[in-house]
Amino acid sequence: MKKSTNTIWHHATVTRNRREQQNGHRSVVLWFTGLSGAGKSTLAHAVEEELHRQECRTFVLDGDNVRHGLCADLGFSAEDRTENIRRIAETAKLLTEAGVIAMTAFISPFRSDRERARNLFSQGDFIEIYCQAPLELCEQRDVKGLYRRARAGEVKDFTGISSPYEPPLNPELVVATDCLPLEECVSQVLTLLRFRGIIN
Ligand code: PPS
Repeated sequence: MKKSTNTIWHHATVTRNRREQQNGHRSVVLWFTGLSGAGKSTLAHAVEEELHRQECRTFVLDGDNVRHGLCADLGFSAEDRTENIRRIAETAKLLTEAGVIAMTAFISPFRSDRERARNLFSQGDFIEIYCQAPLELCEQRDVKGLYRRARAGEVKDFTGISSPYEPPLNPELVVATDCLPLEECVSQVLTLLRFRGIIN
């Protein structure tokens, strides 16, 4: 798989540490995971709004958006999802090197893929946030009409219907996006970031 040989790592003089000091906060990845329609993107962008207001450096990588570019060649088979998550994790790693608080909003349905993503990062730099909302509710909301189409057999390999979702066993945070108001969900994430000394 690895095709790049004869390459040598070049060490930057402007290090991540120096960037973090200048920014006044640590750089981490907030890895939002959950079913389609569970509120991952909504929460990630709302957290970003608040962090941005506090003058933190942030960036959200969002499933639907990334699949228009970086991952436009990938579909929704298990193999393609694995490759999708691998690319996202590597991109998030670059963002943390750049001193940014990176947020990823991908279903990332497979535990093994999320574990592989976690293993790219040092201890404490990967914060898994489970957006917990039951399938029934996500399906009932059906914001994009994809659940209905999946039930009708028009969208194959649809998460929760014809492709599995494996909930995290030990995430850093579980947010009940199904029953809490958005502001409360944001507040839970920010409290965790403060508690861990990532932001002030
Ligand atoms: S994954 O599993 O992490 O690789 O998926 P992700 O990149 O997050 O993309 C999920 C969004 O793609 C739309 N979509 C589908 N989702 C699940 N299964 C199938 N088959 C599918 N086809 C299209 C859907 O809008 C997802 O967006 P969210 O924001 O999660 O609802």
